[in-house]
Amino acid sequence: MRTRQALERTLASIDGRGYGSYKQLHGTYDLGLFRLAVDHVQVDPYAPPSKARAVLDLDATGLPADLIDTARKRVAVSDFLTRRCHEAARKATDGDRAVSFGTPGQEILPRTSVLIADDRVEARFEVSLPARGRRVLGRVAADVLTGTVPRIVESSLRYDNLDAEALRAHVELHLDQEHLRARLGERGLVAFVGDGAILPRRSGDSDLPMSDGATPFASPESLRVSFDLPSGRTVTGMGVPEGVTVVVGGGYHGKSTLLRALERGVHSHVPGDGREWVITRHDAVTVRAEDGRAVTGVNISPFITGLPSGTDTTRFTTTNASGSTSQAANLVEALEAGASLLLIDEDTSATNFMIRDELMRKLVPADREPITPFVDRVRPLYEELGVSTVLVAGGSGAFFAVADHVIALDAYVPRDVTDAAHAITDGPRETPAERAAEDATRVFAAEARRVPAANSLRPKNKTKPAKARGRGAVQYGTDTIDLGAVAQLIDPAQTTAIAHILDRLADLLDGRRSLHEAVDEIYRRIERGGLDALSPHSGHPGQLALPRRHEVHAALNRYRGLRITMRD
Ligand SMILES: Nc1ncnc2c1ncn2[C@@H]1O[C@H](COP(=O)(O)OP(=O)(O)OP(=O)(O)O)[C@@H](O)[C@H]1O
Ligand SMILES: [Mg+2]
Repeated sequence: MRTRQALERTLASIDGRGYGSYKQLHGTYDLGLFRLAVDHVQVDPYAPPSKARAVLDLDATGLPADLIDTARKRVAVSDFLTRRCHEAARKATDGDRAVSFGTPGQEILPRTSVLIADDRVEARFEVSLPARGRRVLGRVAADVLTGTVPRIVESSLRYDNLDAEALRAHVELHLDQEHLRARLGERGLVAFVGDGAILPRRSGDSDLPMSDGATPFASPESLRVSFDLPSGRTVTGMGVPEGVTVVVGGGYHGKSTLLRALERGVHSHVPGDGREWVITRHDAVTVRAEDGRAVTGVNISPFITGLPSGTDTTRFTTTNASGSTSQAANLVEALEAGASLLLIDEDTSATNFMIRDELMRKLVPADREPITPFVDRVRPLYEELGVSTVLVAGGSGAFFAVADHVIALDAYVPRDVTDAAHAITDGPRETPAERAAEDATRVFAAEARRVPAANSLRPKNKTKPAKARGRGAVQYGTDTIDLGAVAQLIDPAQTTAIAHILDRLADLLDGRRSLHEAVDEIYRRIERGGLDALSPHSGHPGQLALPRRHEVHAALNRYRGLRITMRD
C-alpha cells in the first residue's frame, strides 16, 4: 500500500502531462482514516468517470453492532450512509458531480454504493479526474482525492458525525415496513395504505411528495385495519383484501395515483416520502398494454385464441405485439415470474383486452372474436391460481359483478361502495362453487415453464458486455431491450444490475434450465455473495441496485433474440 505522500508526489509529477498519465494512480493508498483504492482510471476526460473506493475498518466507523447485525438492517444502514455521502459530495463539489455515489431515489434498495461487511465499510464512488483540454490537472486532482474525498468520508461514514437518531429511525422504519409487508398474507391482504399517507407526487417528472395541498389518505371505516410493528408503533389504514378489487371514481379524482403508490409499495420508502405506509406484497406486478414489443413462446390462450393469422396462441411469438396481445403476454409472463397480485390501470390498458360490452357481444359473434376479455378471466385467476387483482376502472361498470370490493375515490377520499355496486348488478355474478359446477375445466392449466434455447443469450452480434442505457433500456449486442414500459423498474442502478444478470444468465442457459430456474440461480448467488457477485470487476463493482426477479424476467422476455424450446 502506498502513502498519501506517494499519491501527492505522483499527482505533482504528472501535472500538465497527457491525460493517460493518470493511469499511474491505479492502486491503494493509506489516507489515515481510510484506504483509498483506485480501481479504474478513465482513459480520457470524456470517458465514463474513474472508479474508486474508500475502505474503512469497521471499528473506525464506530457503527454500533446492534444496527448492523442482520442483513435487513445493513440494507437500511447502507442506504442511509449512501444518502449522506451523496449529500456531502453534492455540497463539497458545488453540484458539479465530480464525485458521485449514485443518486438514490425514494426507495430503500440493496445497493453496492456502500458495502457493510463483517470487518469493513466500503464507499464506492465515481470521480471525474480533472483536465485542461487533454492535460492532467494534478493539483486539482490532489485536492479532490486528498481533500474533498476525505471530508466526505469523515462527515458521512463516521458514526460520531452522523445524526444518530435519524440513522436509528431510518433502520426502524425499514424494519417496520418489511415486517408489515411480511404480515399481509396472514391477514388475507394484498396491500395496505396507511391513514395520513401522501400519495400524489410533486409533478409528473418528480418522485418527491406533493409539498402542499395534498389530501392525506383516510381509509374507509369498513376496510380499516391496524398493525402493531416491531418498533412499538401501531399504524392504521386501508387493508386491500385478496381477491378482486376495483377502484372507481371520476376523472382526476386520484385513481391512478393510488394505483401507482401501490405499484411502488413493493419497496420500502424513506422517511418523509409520504408513502412509508403504502405497503404492497413484494411480488405485485403492474400489467399494461405495450404494443410493439416482442413476445416469445408465451401461452396467451386463456385470453386469446383463433387469431385470423392462424398463429398458435399457446406459444405466441411475435416481433410486434398488438395492444391486446402485448397486455395478455405481460400478464402471463407476470404469472410465470410468480406474481400473486396484478395491478392494472385502465389508462394504460387495451380496452378490448379488458372488456367487451353487450352490444358488441351481439354484433360480433363470439366465434369471430379471438379475445376473451380480462373481465371474464379475473375470477378464475383468483380462484384457480390465487392471484389477486387491483384494477382501476372509471369508465365501465363491467367489473362490478366480478369484484369482491369496489372502492370509489371522491376528490381523493376513498369510500367503500361494494354494496351499492353489487346492488346495481344483482350481486356478484356467481359464487366459486357455482362456477366450478358449471365448468369443471380450468382456464389456467398448470403451466409448463418455458426453457430458453442454450444459445439464446449468445448472439453472434454481441461482443461486449450488456450495458444499461439509463433506467429504461439495456444494450445487448446490437439489440436494444426496451424496458421503458416496465413500471416497477425504478432506478438506473437496477438496470445496470439487470445488464450484468443477463450476461451471467448467458452462461446458465443450457437448453434444460427453465427461465425461472435460471433466474432462481442468480438470486441464490446474490444471496451468497451479495450484489457485488454480479459484477465482472474485482474491487469496485459499479453502481448497482437490486432489481426484483419480476423485472429480470421482464428484461429477458423483451429481448428480441430470445428462443424458447418448450419444456415437455
Ligand atoms: N390525495 C391527493 N391530494 C391532492 N392531489 C392529488 C391527490 N391524489 C392525486 N392528486 C392529483 O390529482 C391529479 C389527478 O390524479 P390521477 O391521475 O390519479 O387521477 P385519475 O382519477 O386517475 O384520473 P383519470 O380518470 O383522468 O385517469 C394528479 O395531478 C394528482 O397528482
Ligand atoms: Mg388515471
